[in-house]
Amino acid sequence: MTLARSTKLTVVGAGSVGSSLAYAALIRGSAREVVLYDIATARVEAEVLDLAHGTPFTGASRITGGSDIEVTAESDVVVITAGAKQRPGQTRLELAGVNVGILEQMMPRLAELSPNAVFVLVTNPCDVLTAVAERITDLPPGRIFSSGTVLDSARLRWLVAESAGVAPQSVHALIVGEHGDTEFPLWSTATIGQTPLSEWTDAAGALLFPRERLEMLTHDVVNAAYKIIEGKGATNYAIGLSGARIVEAVLKDERRILPVSSVLHGFRGIDGVALSLPSIVGAGGVHRVLDMPLDAREEQLLQNSAEALRASIALFS
Ligand code: 2OP
Repeated sequence: MTLARSTKLTVVGAGSVGSSLAYAALIRGSAREVVLYDIATARVEAEVLDLAHGTPFTGASRITGGSDIEVTAESDVVVITAGAKQRPGQTRLELAGVNVGILEQMMPRLAELSPNAVFVLVTNPCDVLTAVAERITDLPPGRIFSSGTVLDSARLRWLVAESAGVAPQSVHALIVGEHGDTEFPLWSTATIGQTPLSEWTDAAGALLFPRERLEMLTHDVVNAAYKIIEGKGATNYAIGLSGARIVEAVLKDERRILPVSSVLHGFRGIDGVALSLPSIVGAGGVHRVLDMPLDAREEQLLQNSAEALRASIALFS
């Protein structure tokens, strides 16, 4: 009898994002083994116990963990959520200084312990950290990327779905660029089912998504995290689910197209900057970053986003 190979997911950071990601991964059965690692011993042990007590009600996943970095060894996927989080009103890019320092400290050892793993950066600013992580390790391209705008795209799909009265799964729309203030939606290629968003009407035949409505939706997506942080101090559930979904694409070699962020090398003139674009994600990480039709405004917004990230990354090279 051949036994199915076990899959090991390590989540680094037992704060609200890391714990929610581990919780989502257990419920969804994203990996056979989920490991939670954090330097704060009491915190990580408490989270592991709490999660473990729920496993009689989940699929065939096991949770272990602790504060010894050796627990992360031989992972298939390592998701990094550790670091400072945004305070109300603070931008993601303002976290770069402190979180680059934390990443530089732990990344080499994590890569050494799991030489075959795919690394997914969730800590903010995730695009900047992805570029830094690629620089300080010698992992092959595609093996380090970030959750990027997978969450922002989910926020957009949900908002459009609520307006149109359809399921979010039937809305095909992407946010691309920085996971942050310069991100933007690809309205020119957004559809509900097969219908272009610009042609979607309500039951009375009135267009539901005129320019002003699109601007409001963009504003709501870009400011979603600020609003949630204002109300409860952090975002955790939706990023947890987004992270678990990305992990499954890798561990099940799904080759799913997701707007993750990886370092670009000459994409539409963008070089050495990580930002989100639709990418094929499967075993081994990002297989290919896809080009897509952009109108003139979208092309300009993409270059603006790259410029903002280039300026931030330059501070750490
Ligand atoms: C989010 O978008 C704060 O980056 C985090 O929810």
